[in-house]
Amino acid sequence: MSPYSYKITGGNRLKGDISISGSKNAVLGVLAAAMMIDGKCTLENVPDISDVHVMIDLCRSLGALITSEAAAEGSLTLEIDPRGINTYKATGASVSKIRASYYLLGALLARGGKASLRMPGGCNFGQRPIDLHLKAFAAMGARGARPEDIEGGIITLAADPLHGARIFLDIVSVGATINVMLAATKAQGMTIITNAAKEPHIVDVANFLNAMGAKIKGAGTDTIRITGVPVLPGNFSYSIIPDQIEAGTYMIAAAVTDGDVTIHNLIPTHMEPLSSKMREMGYTVEENEDNDSIRVYREEGSEIWGTNIKTSPYPGFPTDLQPQAVVLLCMAKGVSKMHENVWQNRFQYIPELTRMGASINVFDRIALVNGIERFKGATVMATDLRAGAALVCAALAAEGTTYITNAKKIDRGYENIVQKLQSLGAEIERCESPEFDPDAEA
Ligand code: EPZ
Repeated sequence: MSPYSYKITGGNRLKGDISISGSKNAVLGVLAAAMMIDGKCTLENVPDISDVHVMIDLCRSLGALITSEAAAEGSLTLEIDPRGINTYKATGASVSKIRASYYLLGALLARGGKASLRMPGGCNFGQRPIDLHLKAFAAMGARGARPEDIEGGIITLAADPLHGARIFLDIVSVGATINVMLAATKAQGMTIITNAAKEPHIVDVANFLNAMGAKIKGAGTDTIRITGVPVLPGNFSYSIIPDQIEAGTYMIAAAVTDGDVTIHNLIPTHMEPLSSKMREMGYTVEENEDNDSIRVYREEGSEIWGTNIKTSPYPGFPTDLQPQAVVLLCMAKGVSKMHENVWQNRFQYIPELTRMGASINVFDRIALVNGIERFKGATVMATDLRAGAALVCAALAAEGTTYITNAKKIDRGYENIVQKLQSLGAEIERCESPEFDPDAEA
C-alpha cells in the first residue's frame, strides 16, 4: 500500500460513546501460546490491526491453520488449529516487523524442544535487548542462548527436554515474563518466576494458557508458579480482554478536546493509574455501576492543572500512555514533569509536538512540559505507534489542520481509529501523504 497519512482538522469537542477493542499486547502473546495446543481453539475479540495480521501470518508460515471471520464492532474471531506445524523456524523477514514475534521462541521450544528465530523488531526506543529471555531459557536447559550463539541475526535454541527452574528477572519485563510462562508450560517440573511483570496482558495470557490445560498460578502478582504438563488438549473458546492503552488514548482524546465521552468495554481498575492522574488534574472520570465503562469530561468552570507523572511497570503509569499523557500535560496550566522510567529513549516524538506549538524541554529521561493555550496544525510524522497516537490527540485539539505522515504506525495498534473518532464528531480522514518538508513547518 502506498504511504498514507491522517488529515485531522482540530477543534471539535469529542462527544458520545465508543467501544474498546481487544488488547494488542495480550493477543500477540495468546497467538504464540495457541501454537502449543494439541487441539484447536476459538479466539474472540481479536483486534483487526496490522500487528495481529503479521503475527497470524507468522503462525501460518509455521504450518498452523488459522481462519478469520469479521465479528461485531469490527473485531475478528479466529479458529486456530496448530497441529499441522511442521517447522521450528521463524526466520523470514516479517519476524522483524514486530516485537512480539519473540514469543514464538518460548512457544516453539515448548512445543517441540527447538526454536529458531530472526531477531525481533518493534518500536525504536533505544536499546531493546532480550537477554532476560535468553538467560531464562538457558536456566531451563536450552542450548544456544548465549549472545555469541546468535548467527546472522538468528537465534537457534534446543533443549532435550526443557526443565523447570527458578527465574529471577532483575528488570521487570513483560516480554520475558510471557516468554518464560510459555516455555515453562510444558517443561518438566516447576518454574518459579520472581519479580514478574503484572500487566493485565500477563494475566490474560496466563488465563488463556490455563484454558489450554496449563497449570499457572500467581499471574498478576510478582511471583508466578508454573507446573509443566505434558499435553495441552485445547478445544475451547477464549475472549481477549479490552485494550488498556487504546482505552487510555480515548480518555485523553476526550479530555484534550474538552469533550464528554463514555468509553465502553474497558476494565476500570486497569485504567486507575491514568484515571487518578486525570482526576488530580481537574477532569471528572466516572466509572459506571456495571464496572465496564468510564465517562470523561470537565465540569463547567473547573480548571485543569499540570502534574508530575512517572512511568513504571503495572500497576504504575503505563509507558505506552506516556506520549499521549504529555499531550494532556501540554494543555494544562503550569509546568508538569513526565519521567520515563521504562524505556531508555521514548521522547523521539517531542520535536513533532514542538512543530505543533508544544513547549517541552527534555533532560535525559525527564520532560518538563510548559502548558500552552492551543496546539496549531502542522505536518508531522508518527515516529512510532504511541507517538502517532499522541499526535492524533494533539491534532484533535489543535487550531487548523494537521497531517500525520507514516500513519501505518498508528494502524499497528488501533482498530478502526478513523471511524471511532469520526463517530465522536472528529474531523479525521486517511489521505495520501503530503510532501513532507520539515523546514517549512519549523
Ligand atoms: C512490552 O514490550 C510491550 N510490547 C510494549 O508496548 C511496552 O512498552 C513494554 O512491554 C513495557 O510495558 C508488547 O507487549 C508487544 P519489557 P517488551 O520487556 O516486552 C528492559 C506498545 O506500544 N529489558 O517489559 O519488549 C527493556 O530494555 C509497545 O504497545 C531488558 O533489559 O518490554 C526495557 O527497558 C511498545 N532485557 C524494560 O526491560 C530484556 O531481556 C521493559 O521492557 C527485556 C527487557
